Amino acid sequence: MTTENPARDHKTSDVRFVTVEKKFDTAVALHSLDLDIERGTLFALLGPSGCGKTTTLRLIAGFEQPTSGHVYIRGKDVTGIPAYKRNFGMVFQSFALFPHLTVAENVAFGLQMRGVAKDDIRTKVAAVLDLVALGKFAQRYPRQLSGGQQQRVALARAVVFEPDVLLLDEPLSALDKMLREQMQVEIRQLQKRLGMTTVFVTHDQEEALTMSDRVAVMKDGRIQQAGAPREIYDRPQTEFVATFLGASNILQASVRGREGDNTVIDLAGNLLHVPGIEAETGSAVRLALRPEKITLRPDSPMKATVKEVIYRGAQTLLYLDMNGMAINAVLPNSDVQPASVEPGSPVGLHWEKANMVALDRPA
Ligand SMILES: Nc1ncnc2c1ncn2[C@@H]1O[C@H](COP(=O)(O)OP(=O)(O)OP(=O)(O)O)[C@@H](O)[C@H]1O
Ligand SMILES: [Mg+2]
Repeated sequence: MTTENPARDHKTSDVRFVTVEKKFDTAVALHSLDLDIERGTLFALLGPSGCGKTTTLRLIAGFEQPTSGHVYIRGKDVTGIPAYKRNFGMVFQSFALFPHLTVAENVAFGLQMRGVAKDDIRTKVAAVLDLVALGKFAQRYPRQLSGGQQQRVALARAVVFEPDVLLLDEPLSALDKMLREQMQVEIRQLQKRLGMTTVFVTHDQEEALTMSDRVAVMKDGRIQQAGAPREIYDRPQTEFVATFLGASNILQASVRGREGDNTVIDLAGNLLHVPGIEAETGSAVRLALRPEKITLRPDSPMKATVKEVIYRGAQTLLYLDMNGMAINAVLPNSDVQPASVEPGSPVGLHWEKANMVALDRPA
């Protein structure tokens, strides 16, 4: 960084980390993290347990301070400023409502702490409870609500004082699948309606893809890749990103040369022309290919043998062998002729070569 205040160049960014490192004693929880979260967007931090998601949120909130590096909120360097002087709303990994307070009192709590006038509190609480469709439940106690309703109270409590940033740490992990999917949509709609910059932590890849404008995939205290959901799903840069976000074939090939814009590779004895790959002739490359990009075409020169057929309702998963190389395909069931594809069947495989993505680094 050469500029004196790097945040100045990012007027629209609401949360910015510049080479933030966080150590607990000698253990490094975050390695030199750079983050740039645009105003009004929902940004997901996605990664396995222990990768540093909660630590990142706590640094934004000010519950933790960086060992080195800087945190900016709305262009202002807040490094060293404690949590109570920052304006954020948070729903914690294990959210807890006050059991002895009603829904309305739970939501009003943060406003009272901020010294907001009584009449204003009443208006704001009523408005936000309507927003999360809990207007009728204002006088109930948390124990009289379902899990999803309690979740919405926690959300209302976090947004009622119009925070600069909303921080959500796995807020849906306690809910069953149906409710969880419903709440994903509700949180997303609320976030868009309020235009609130939101950082959402999850270890569920589908949740991250469904809800976010941008996703950062984290591993071992580092961001492996950040981008729009489609970008990181379709163009993963590492094996970890490719396999953490759904299933992917990781294929080894050798580079034979170049022809125009294409790199010619040898994949299990098939010569393929692949665009968008930079690799030296004679080198080995590792390529990611999503199983759903593969289709069956009897006339394709790429031949394989079916090893196993797994019926999955909407789709069928095929384990295939291509000259000794294992490869998986997922076919929508509208296309499968059950009688013609069975273990031992010879098949021709086809995919758009542009769907093959060269990987930089091993997992
Ligand atoms: N207060 C602390 N003292 C020491 N080590 C800590 C502390 N907080 C977190 N860590 C360590 O830092 C690393 C990152 O932890 P963090 O809570 O950020 O992970 P996470 O990605 O949120 O994981 P999970 O999905 O399990 O919630 C872990 O190795 C953890 O043990
Ligand atoms: Mg966590």
